[in-house]
Amino acid sequence: MKNAAMFDTKPYDRESFEKYNGKDGIFIKYFDTRLTEDTAGLAENSDTVIAFVNDVLNAAVIDKLYGCGVKLIALRCAGFNNVDVKAAFGKIHVVRVPAYSPYAVAEHAMALLLTSVRRTHKAYNRIKDFNFSLNGLTGFDLYGKTVGVVGTGKIGKIFINICNGFGMKVIAYDLYPDKTLNAEYVSLEKLFESSDIISLHCPLTSDNYHMINRENIARMKSGVVLINTSRGSLIDAEALLDGIKSKKIGAACLDVYEEESDIFFEDKSGHIMQDDVLARLLTMPNVLLTSHQAFLTREALDNIAATTIGNIKAFFDSDIPENEICYRCGRIEECRKERKEKCF
Ligand code: NAI
Repeated sequence: MKNAAMFDTKPYDRESFEKYNGKDGIFIKYFDTRLTEDTAGLAENSDTVIAFVNDVLNAAVIDKLYGCGVKLIALRCAGFNNVDVKAAFGKIHVVRVPAYSPYAVAEHAMALLLTSVRRTHKAYNRIKDFNFSLNGLTGFDLYGKTVGVVGTGKIGKIFINICNGFGMKVIAYDLYPDKTLNAEYVSLEKLFESSDIISLHCPLTSDNYHMINRENIARMKSGVVLINTSRGSLIDAEALLDGIKSKKIGAACLDVYEEESDIFFEDKSGHIMQDDVLARLLTMPNVLLTSHQAFLTREALDNIAATTIGNIKAFFDSDIPENEICYRCGRIEECRKERKEKCF
């Protein structure tokens, strides 16, 4: 019997995981609270912790979980920038769901872009009020525009295909270009300088923190539309705000925000917003923000639950940790996973 403590559980998570609960010897205990140093003790007697994007998995939390007897952190997401993988190495193994529906995220990025440029969110509210005026709703054609895609992995590729379908010119930047794509790879500087629309689809790493900063915003075309469905800290939010105030940035479509962890996924409607940058961004007519919901489709939730449970079973029942990650992963000479072994 294996016990799993699942943190930051929302009703839609429970619905997708519940069908596996108690089957194949895996018992899930759900906690609404996020995983932090204060709540890590709830994992006492659990073999596994099931965690999400805004759960805190720093060295202190990892040590507490290790003390509780946790052997596996099963991330129910793709990104693992919230895990101190070095601190976990040798103590707790980490697995993730590398892909659950790249379509969900790519389609959400396009939904944000279309909503922003065609003002459908404003039209919807206006017409509910029997205001049928078109003043202020002028958009622009996507056809013929240049879109710059940063990161051409699973999600970026699908977004590029969608943009190709709209007749847009696609330029792209990735550390590992994929020459089969219908996109022209350019330097990051050229991408910033030439794009009418920029969409971020790369992971957050120590190298690209605040990739969108004052210096790079200054390089961009006036009126550029920025889309970020990846991770908030790719953008310096204060620089973004100034870019919007100065009208350099024409619109921002954000599904993520650098200080989202204490705010997103929760109903804060009765609270005083303490984050001044977020509050100011939300006053802007050209900022469209969703609360990290790009992944939220039925297909993605089903895949997340199935892969997470599969990862837990594979970890405890076999030596083939297909979705394990560690700070050495990918370094060919050190990567045990290449030899179909656990990371340590
Ligand atoms: P992936 O691993 O398939 O592709 C990422 C690509 O980015 C790779 O081609 C990689 O070479 C490239 N890359 C890495 N560092 C880079 C850099 N500094 N500059 C440019 N390119 C770089 O990942 P996938 O599945 O496409 O996901 C991308 C990101 O989307 C995830 O890392 C995650 O942060 C975000 N995401 C957001 C979700 C949401 O609900 N908003 C849901 C799922 C993922």
